[in-house]
Amino acid sequence: MPAHVYIDELAHHIGEEVTLKGWLYGRRSSGKIHFLQLRDGTGIVQCVASRADVGEELFARADKLGQETSLILDGVVREDKRSPIGVELHAQRFSVVAEPTQEYPISPKEHGTAFLMDHRHLWLRSRRQVAILRIRSEIIRAIRNYFDGRGFTLMDAPIFTPAACEGTSNLFEVNYFDDKAYLTQSGQLYGEAGAMALGKVYVFGPTFRAEKSKTRRHLTEFWMVEPEVAYLDLDGDMDLAEDFLVEVVGQVLRNRRPELAVLERDLSKLESVQKPFPRIRYEEAIALLQRKGKPAQFGDDFGADEETAISEEFDRPVMIHRYPSQIKAFYMKRDPADPRTALCVDVIAPEGYGEIIGGSQREDDLATLEARIAEHKLPRESFEWYLDLRRYGSVPHAGFGLGIERTVAWLCGLHHVRETIPFPRMLEKITP
Ligand code: 4AD
Ligand code: MG
Repeated sequence: MPAHVYIDELAHHIGEEVTLKGWLYGRRSSGKIHFLQLRDGTGIVQCVASRADVGEELFARADKLGQETSLILDGVVREDKRSPIGVELHAQRFSVVAEPTQEYPISPKEHGTAFLMDHRHLWLRSRRQVAILRIRSEIIRAIRNYFDGRGFTLMDAPIFTPAACEGTSNLFEVNYFDDKAYLTQSGQLYGEAGAMALGKVYVFGPTFRAEKSKTRRHLTEFWMVEPEVAYLDLDGDMDLAEDFLVEVVGQVLRNRRPELAVLERDLSKLESVQKPFPRIRYEEAIALLQRKGKPAQFGDDFGADEETAISEEFDRPVMIHRYPSQIKAFYMKRDPADPRTALCVDVIAPEGYGEIIGGSQREDDLATLEARIAEHKLPRESFEWYLDLRRYGSVPHAGFGLGIERTVAWLCGLHHVRETIPFPRMLEKITP
């Protein structure tokens, strides 16, 4: 038997006979020749089957194979300038591993999103979905590369938590033996403990928010990476977020060109993600919105409309800092120069993809933090351990959280976050 080769390596085997193991993606025939599109997870290749090469019996069988039949196929690799991967295969023989028991539900014709979402477990096999998942994987690799290469320690935070981190409105409550617990909204508070132990850490894991809104940017379960650094202030935090995003986008551009091409992503929009990013104060953002005819005023939080309007003014991510502290989380440090505002930053992606990063310098003063916890009516007992971080060697520190799915949506140019994660969880979606 010829050696098993993956489709993305075929170009190195021109003239050789190889074995492919995969599934039938599509098929057409001229009568004299059958064209089988075979996929194996690394790519799709056209396999040409002629009666002379494969013999009468297989030739007849090839004309009846159903979509997604699993196949092992031997053939000779031929250079082909018209092929998107530069080669095609001249089939010699094949064997069927498993025939579909019924017709594959996702045909090449157009399907509605609801239908595709219900068949997500199969939809993942399509060319576009494979490209998206590869880019997602690359983004995660780039994130890990970034932090691992700069002295950060990966620190896992718990998923079951006793209290809210990002406000109480969207917590998932679960039974915890005779008590209640909540699925984590963010690993940050634990990351802060880690930063005091290890200096520079990043927490990377799933986070949960009971978002009752049906928007194209909200999931109930999403992945977040959260660096946290001791002895860092807001300016340093913004420098870190900027450097990090430039590196991640650069790595995706270097390594995932073919996948970006499948998605027809406009690369020039990603290539312009270079330093420096514009940094504007919240109040400048309000003024910008007002100039654009939006009814914005101090104290408003920005929704999708406002974020899109702001992002239209820039060709790269924009950092908006110093929001009013009343609309932000309890742990953010107030700006000593203007106590109405917090030392925080949101990074808004270009092209209307919305907020991808939220970060801040943390309140490091014990008494002030105690007062914030009371103001926010948070259960003090659950935060005693967090207050300890201010009792024993408190230092200025800062960090941020990047949402993976919104980042995937932005880099892939996807309208909705539901395609950015293998099995999205949303208000009305928990299966498959
Ligand atoms: O701005 P957020 O709520 O910040 C935090 O959770 C901080 N504790 C982070 C930190 O400082 N360590 O969330 C951070 C990011 C958002 O900018 C967004 O990209 C993403 O998480 N995000 C969501 N993504 C998908 N669906 C949702 N429901 C999301 N909520 C937040
Ligand atoms: Mg936020």
